Amino acid sequence: NEIYLTALGGVLPEFPMDYATLERKATAALPDTLLHYIAGGAGDELTQRRNAEAFADWGLLPRMLVGATERDLTVSAFGHNFASPLFLAPVGVIGLVGEQGHGDIAIAKASAETGVPAMYSTLMEDPLEEVRPHAGDTPSFFQLYTPKNRELAESLVHRAEAAGYAGITVTLDTWVPGWRPRDLSSGNFPQLRGHVLKNYTSDPVFQAMVGSDDPKMIVLHWVSTFGHSLTWDDLTWLRSLTDLPLILKGISHPDDARRAIDLGADGIYCSNHGGRQANGGLSALETLPEVAAACDGRVPVLFDSGVRSGADVVKALGLGATMVGIGRPYVYALALGGVRGLVHLLRAYAAEADLLLAVNGYPDVAAVRANIRPSIHGNA
Ligand code: FNR
Repeated sequence: NEIYLTALGGVLPEFPMDYATLERKATAALPDTLLHYIAGGAGDELTQRRNAEAFADWGLLPRMLVGATERDLTVSAFGHNFASPLFLAPVGVIGLVGEQGHGDIAIAKASAETGVPAMYSTLMEDPLEEVRPHAGDTPSFFQLYTPKNRELAESLVHRAEAAGYAGITVTLDTWVPGWRPRDLSSGNFPQLRGHVLKNYTSDPVFQAMVGSDDPKMIVLHWVSTFGHSLTWDDLTWLRSLTDLPLILKGISHPDDARRAIDLGADGIYCSNHGGRQANGGLSALETLPEVAAACDGRVPVLFDSGVRSGADVVKALGLGATMVGIGRPYVYALALGGVRGLVHLLRAYAAEADLLLAVNGYPDVAAVRANIRPSIHGNA
């Protein structure tokens, strides 16, 4: 309503209202190397494309005469109540994207303004302690890339805990980078140029490992400790590090979801990292129903990969997600419009989702789940 009414007064929206325009404008605004790092994916990017296309394989059957004047998209998860099911997925280079190298802080400010929680990558351009206060009362989640050095992992988790983060998301699918031709052919990997390593350089364990301020030594030590190929035994160790909710990101197989919950995971995050890691897989949306069924309501199911609109958010909820993560679209919104661009995007997704429930006659997520169907035009 607000958008239509301001347009009546001759004021048109400042930022794009659809993903295609957002992507096109951000593509023009971002420097090439950063753009390829953000926009690119693994291999020929088939999985990345399928992630977004998979939403067309499902349709929603509208219900009439329901009188859905009130809709409820609120979510209760990890001990918090959220006004919408949206969250901002962790994006490592976000610090470089907007607000003069303080993109992580911009995310926190948009999070504070909208109440949409964000996950902050280990690869931040400002240390986690400096970012967290900007999110105000909105809970923040720290995303851990588990280093080989256990002491360093413990230090990162304990710092996040001390800084007031509301949960730890452990990303499982990225202990080595994927085969990303765009980055490989441009020799571009921001971390190797010393970017987004502040959580390491501000860490006493890492400082003791490196023993020097020499940028080359910092990068070398970072490379040597960055990724640990975790096993189920490591999960028991990670679980023992904190009482905060532990969320596992990158789960696609229902058996992994079940076993993780049995070992104490508090949240299952179904995602294929936006097709950046493994090419040739199923779209993330195709894996969601089985993962959600395996979770069986025991823990919240988080989902991302391919979400490009409020309607996509609704479909992901319909297929079993409790909360739905936004990735590349918010990176582009930040690049184009800083905090205001982010707030616009989050409000637009929430408004579109709510409006879709209204016109479809769905008062809540249960109604979405009862009325979502595979499309005969798709493959689902
Ligand atoms: C990511 N993603 C990611 N995930 C994570 O756990 N830690 C990280 O540091 C990053 N970094 C990162 C950088 C960039 C540039 C992108 C685009 C993505 C993955 C992210 O959390 C999410 O899973 C995907 O972005 C979802 O896919 P879409 O919606 O972007 O296609």
